[in-house]
Amino acid sequence: MNAAFGMGDAPDTYTNSCASCHGTDLSGGRGPSLFNPAFLAERTDEQLHATILNGIPSGGMPGFKGQLDDAQIGRLLAYIRIRGGQLAQAPAAVKDPTDLIIKSKRQTVRIDVVAANIDTPWGEAFLPDGRLLVTERPGKIRIVDPKKKGSTPLTVTGTPTPWVRQDGGFFDIAVAGDKKNPWIYLSYAEVLPGYDKPLPGPGAISKDGPQLPPAMTRIIRGQINAKGQWINQQDIFRGPDSMYTQSVIHYGSRFLVDGKHIFYTLGDRGDMTHSQKLDSPLGKIHRVNLDGSAPADNPFVNTPGAIKTIWSVGNRNAEGLSYDPRTRLLWESEHGPTGGDEINIIEKGKNYGWGVVSKGLQPGITLQSKEGMVDPIRYYTPAIAPSGITFNTGNKYPGWKNNLFLTALAGQKLIRYQIEGRKIVEEEILWDQYGRTRAVIMGPDGLLYVLLQNATGGRVGTGQSTPGMVVRLVPQP
Ligand code: HEC
Repeated sequence: MNAAFGMGDAPDTYTNSCASCHGTDLSGGRGPSLFNPAFLAERTDEQLHATILNGIPSGGMPGFKGQLDDAQIGRLLAYIRIRGGQLAQAPAAVKDPTDLIIKSKRQTVRIDVVAANIDTPWGEAFLPDGRLLVTERPGKIRIVDPKKKGSTPLTVTGTPTPWVRQDGGFFDIAVAGDKKNPWIYLSYAEVLPGYDKPLPGPGAISKDGPQLPPAMTRIIRGQINAKGQWINQQDIFRGPDSMYTQSVIHYGSRFLVDGKHIFYTLGDRGDMTHSQKLDSPLGKIHRVNLDGSAPADNPFVNTPGAIKTIWSVGNRNAEGLSYDPRTRLLWESEHGPTGGDEINIIEKGKNYGWGVVSKGLQPGITLQSKEGMVDPIRYYTPAIAPSGITFNTGNKYPGWKNNLFLTALAGQKLIRYQIEGRKIVEEEILWDQYGRTRAVIMGPDGLLYVLLQNATGGRVGTGQSTPGMVVRLVPQP
């Protein structure tokens, strides 16, 4: 049927090159939906053609010059306009996952909704008292009590205001230190302090709209008092002013607490040249003491000019970190460019190649592998947008002992892996239809807690802010 329209390769081109960011339906993904009739009506083919060729570098839209020729782009545009019309008549919706039974090869579980109406959840971490902190990307920390299922989560007051645009907002959260008075770690996108021009409103496009403000990932720690107020704030990471950029992508920001240390990831902020430079913190994984200082046994502490907190190099935008409890190998998930999403084992001082090698498509990168740069354990093309990773370290799921779990945004997936040493020996998709699946962690009760965005009734995954849920996987006999 496609051939009859003269669209030929267009559906495949869309799936391979565009769907990871623009989604497969009307609601889009990280980029806007290209199938939305209102969007299409406002743009001529010439305008769309130019955007596809040149991209919008500051907005995270790659240019396809050299990858797609004029005829291919013409067929792609025809496909987008026709498919847009079809989808408008039959919009897709996300299934409500409440109490669904998931039958995996080795374990059956029920999806138990702990809290709903959480706005675009990003990160989660348990407090010593068993309550769960959840960040909402638009800029809130919520306190969920898993023992009071369905109750309205508290909001922590006095937290900083993030820059909310595209990837930006509140990111991950972690709890570390003294059990009675723990530190709460928070990463977020912040506008350059002192920038005083008005911020552009929603819907403004970077190319023609008002100037975007310079922004950067900032990592802080603070404490939450009995009244739910954010107090005692301290800086853990703050880039130099010159590093604040109009780019609205690749902030990184996943934490992993490791006893007296904490790891954090920083993305390349849309400029891959950072990832190979030891004097830039971007495109790296960092390891610090709980106060943010560099431990003496970090790999680059004695390298002149190097940032001393760097643990690994050449990581494009890592959003997942977890230790295998058996081998103590550190597993990581990382967003690739167009295709080339990665699962890696991160080792001290190693170079994971971003900026020079990739299994995905990136203008300026021609190599897939290189001596001295570590290949991924697993990669995904087309992209699934991997956002969180965790090992099952508990014993509530006999069939999933020590298994690894990965969440994916564009792919809407929860994937399970059986790992032996450095190898994936079994891989199973547990779901792929309940919305953007953002994060997974182990609870103190030994259950897996998963963050879903857009989990009830809404359209399939979107980069916009939408309601989400905290769910846990309850083992079934
Ligand atoms: C890596 C993610 C990514 C990929 C892959 C990608 N895009 Fe985009 N695209 C974006 C983002 C993000 C924006 C919004 C940029 C902005 O508004 O600043 C965008 C914007 C656009 C726009 C402009 C929308 C407007 O408002 O005019 C078009 C057209 C477009 N993309 C088409 C495509 C096509 C066609 C493909 C595949 C050949 C593609 N994109 C692949 C991320 C992506």
